[in-house]
Amino acid sequence: MRRSDWKAVLDVVGPASLEHLESLPDRPVYPRGDRAEVMAAVDRELPATGVDAATVVADLAREVGPYVTAVASGRFFGFVMGGLHPAAWGAEILVSTWDQNAGLYAPTPGVAAAEEVAARWILELVGLPAESSVGFVTGGQMATFTCLAAARHEVLRAVGWDVEAEGLIGAPPLTVVLKTGVHSTVPRALRYLGLGERAARRVACDDEDRMRPDALDELLRTVTGPTIVVVESGNVNTGAFDHFSAVADVVDAHRARGNPTWVHVDGAVMLLAAAAPSFDDRTRGVDRMDSWSTDGHKLLNVAYDCGIAICRNAAAHRAAMSVQASYLEQGGDVRDAMDWNPEFSRRARALGVYATLRSLGREGVVELVERTSAMARRFADQLAASGQAEVVNDVVSNQVLVRWLAPDGDHGALVDEVMARIRAEGTAFFSGTSYRGERLMRISVSDWATDEDDVDRTVAALLRHAAAATG
Ligand SMILES: Cc1ncc(COP(=O)(O)O)c(C=O)c1O
Repeated sequence: MRRSDWKAVLDVVGPASLEHLESLPDRPVYPRGDRAEVMAAVDRELPATGVDAATVVADLAREVGPYVTAVASGRFFGFVMGGLHPAAWGAEILVSTWDQNAGLYAPTPGVAAAEEVAARWILELVGLPAESSVGFVTGGQMATFTCLAAARHEVLRAVGWDVEAEGLIGAPPLTVVLKTGVHSTVPRALRYLGLGERAARRVACDDEDRMRPDALDELLRTVTGPTIVVVESGNVNTGAFDHFSAVADVVDAHRARGNPTWVHVDGAVMLLAAAAPSFDDRTRGVDRMDSWSTDGHKLLNVAYDCGIAICRNAAAHRAAMSVQASYLEQGGDVRDAMDWNPEFSRRARALGVYATLRSLGREGVVELVERTSAMARRFADQLAASGQAEVVNDVVSNQVLVRWLAPDGDHGALVDEVMARIRAEGTAFFSGTSYRGERLMRISVSDWATDEDDVDRTVAALLRHAAAATG
């Protein structure tokens, strides 16, 4: 076998990685430089003759490094991007080093076993049925896609239609029910599945973007036949949890009227809350649903990318996803990841889940849920007390919606101004949203590293920028 100078590469990448990670508490959260500057740093002709690997990596670290956003900083509050747990980081290095194609057990037994254990741990942690199947996919989007593919299989199977074999042309009608405040990845999954974004029926929400069970009941009484309902554990804007028990009761009544029904929970933001007894009132009944999607790379702080698709009905999950090929080595008493996710070849992304869960333990996960939510509450309390801003949502988890109060009444413009100023300064990173037609600032606390000092420093900077922006 030809040899390579791995050490020369590690000698570059090790110190560069460490320098980045150790700089996280102090470096600007957002880099400077417009697109032209960033492109100029990396844009070069494809070389006719190669460049040695260590030089390439050293150049990448030097040229791209200055334009990297500190997503794993304790003061990155944008979108719903999680940080990086040290155990996840270490596991990711092993994943890249071992270069396992973890679609099948046979060629990659070590990582396949670790992924199987990670799957079991997730079920135990969140309190989901032990017989559930788990697929590790690229993110919440693909986790929802995977679960809804299983749902499509099962509700059509119940009326005698094999959707995997026959497709949707000529299939019995299938009704998908979403709430008005649904995350955009759900209709997108419906698009991939041939179920149509616009065909879905919409149920009204309350003012925290929770599905109204009475409205669901009213709508389901007009529906007959195969039905899929999607609810949410952690709304992207409000952080709210749907009323799972009430939804489950309504759906049970719909089933009792003879309609095969599957309920999916989009838990990208906060499925993990079900691990915390202090969230019992909010998550009660979540285990009565049929499938659950969540992310490793959000609150669990596994490295990008990692999503998790869970189905109570493993047979439906497998029927929707599995694939056979004569040249593969499949089956037997082992877990082949290919049976549970849409990819064929794949990286062993659940190693990061295994490592993070083992490092945190159950107590650590509970603490993560509670701490991030407490930090969100700390933000909300301080901003509300300032008189310069209003908190729009009921802060029940790790998401806060903020209205900056502009003397001229143009609150939306002030939201953008404050976010731009603090981003340019580098103190913190926020992103906005349009909620009920109003431009608001979102605060998402999804990083294990965020502490009281991060919140207090950030609030001080926000108030300073808001004051400066309003003259
Ligand atoms: C509620 C919800 N569902 C799904 C997603 C999509 O997750 P991902 O970006 O991992 O695909 C998000 C992303 O923020 C989300 O907030």
